[in-house]
This record gives sequence, structure tokens and C-alpha cells, in this order.
Amino acid sequence: MITINAINELRKQINEWKLKGLTVGLVPTMGFLHEGHESLIKRAKKENDRVVVSVFVNPTQFGPNEDLESYPRDIKHDEALCSNAGANIIFNPSPSEMYYKDASTTINVLGLTEGLCGAKRPVHFGGVCLVVSKLFNIVTPNRAYFGEKDAQQLAVIKKMVRDLNFDIEVVGCPIVREIDGLAKSSRNSYLSEHERSAALVLNQSLTLAKEALLAGKNDPAAIKNIITKKLDSESLAKIDYVEIVDSLTLKPVDIINSSILVAIAVYIGKTRLIDNFTFTQGGN
Ligand code: PAF
Repeated sequence: MITINAINELRKQINEWKLKGLTVGLVPTMGFLHEGHESLIKRAKKENDRVVVSVFVNPTQFGPNEDLESYPRDIKHDEALCSNAGANIIFNPSPSEMYYKDASTTINVLGLTEGLCGAKRPVHFGGVCLVVSKLFNIVTPNRAYFGEKDAQQLAVIKKMVRDLNFDIEVVGCPIVREIDGLAKSSRNSYLSEHERSAALVLNQSLTLAKEALLAGKNDPAAIKNIITKKLDSESLAKIDYVEIVDSLTLKPVDIINSSILVAIAVYIGKTRLIDNFTFTQGGN
């Protein structure tokens, strides 16, 4: 496995692969990789001849008061994980390699980006779409792999790929959890020991909601109430949002009779964590 920093050099390698008729899988990441990323790389390895993992903390998807500067970075650890998981290349560009100083193109997927995380993070999805489409143009993968933990991101990228005719299959991969249920996230590294145990309340509240849905409850307000009550029982937790939306349109539902996404964002101390599950009435 090799690490490449320059776009031209990466393109040269990809062209050689394409000339040999090899397929390419892309796993876009912001680094500080964990078992969730590892599962994406392994899936990409299974389904493609070659795998590129991009490691780039993308400045355009962070708002002015967000954690761009403090976002955890450890390229040596990432290289070891990628190599063990079977990746062929880590693409680790600098911000000036990725972005022209006078770049002025934006990509906005309207509708899907307005609720959930987009409501409080107005620049986030524009930045994600911009960097992901640049990576798609640089790597020209056959398939690209994203985690279902970022359910809104996955829906937005799928829509962008369809709307802009990218010839790329977007593959969503299941959430990977710690043994005690906490969804794996690079941001879990911000949590103190005490906050780490408090963070379990996210998955616990979703588990209660799933049980109620399985028991046949179909009133979104009642389900949201179950989640909110559980989250409020943890003094370190501060709710950002608890939402039940249609899993395709991401619009809130009045009654649960279709495929829904139950999504939450919660501050544990200063750390904002997200979690979710999808549910189809009669189908789970
Ligand atoms: O999910 C992430 O880590 C990022 O949003 C992504 C898709 C790598 C774009 O920077």
C-alpha cells in the first residue's frame, strides 16, 4: 500500500489500473480511522480489484464554530489500518492540493439538506458534496462506500450522484458499534471516561424506540417522546434533535406506515454525537 499526496500522481496510478480493466472502489474518509471505516474498506476490497481510501479533513464542511482545528488526526495509524484492511492507496492531499484559492463552484442538494443535521449545520452538506464530487472526479471509482451512521449524508450523496449523472454506485454500509452499543465515531475520542458511559444513552434510547415500533406503536410523537424521555434521564446529554422522517425524502412523517429513519443528534458535554436506525412497519 502506498500513500499519495498529489492529484496528478493518483490519476496516473488510476489510469494504469483502468487500462488493465481493473475496477476501483473509493472509501472517502476524514481519517482517524476506526472499525467502522475498516468495514467499508473490507467491503470495497471484496467488490473491487483495487481500493483507494481518501484521508482528508475537509475544511469546507465545517462551520465557523465547529471542530476543524481540533478534529483528530493520526495518519500513521490510518496507514496501518488501511494496509491491514487491504487498501492499495491512501490519498492524503493537503487543503491547498484539493482547493484552488479562488475556487467558486458550489454544489447544493436542495430539500434533503434542510432538516436534521442540515438545520443546525447550514454549510455542512454543501462542503460534503463539493469534496465528494471532487474525489469522484479525481478517482473515477466504480463504487464508493459510505457508512449508514451518517444517514442524511448517504441520502444526499445518492441524490447528488443521480442528479449529476455520476457513473458510480454508492454503497451504504451498516453502522458498526462498540460491544456496549455506542456507534463507532472518530469524535468518540473527545469523550472523557464519564462522558463515554453517558453516551450509551443514545443507543439505549433508540433501542427503546425500536421496541415500541416492533410492538406496533405508529405515532411518531409517542416514539419521539420515548426517546426524549430516555435522553433527558442522562444529565450530561443535551438533545440537538430527535426526528422521525421518511427514509427517502427525509421529511417528517405524521404516521408510521412506510420506511422511516429515526435519527438523533445529542451533545454529550461539548461533543455532538449522532445515531439512527431505519424501520419498515411490518418489514423488520
Ligand atoms: O463522512 C465523512 O467522513 C465525510 O463527511 C466525507 C464523506 C469523507 C467527506 O469529507
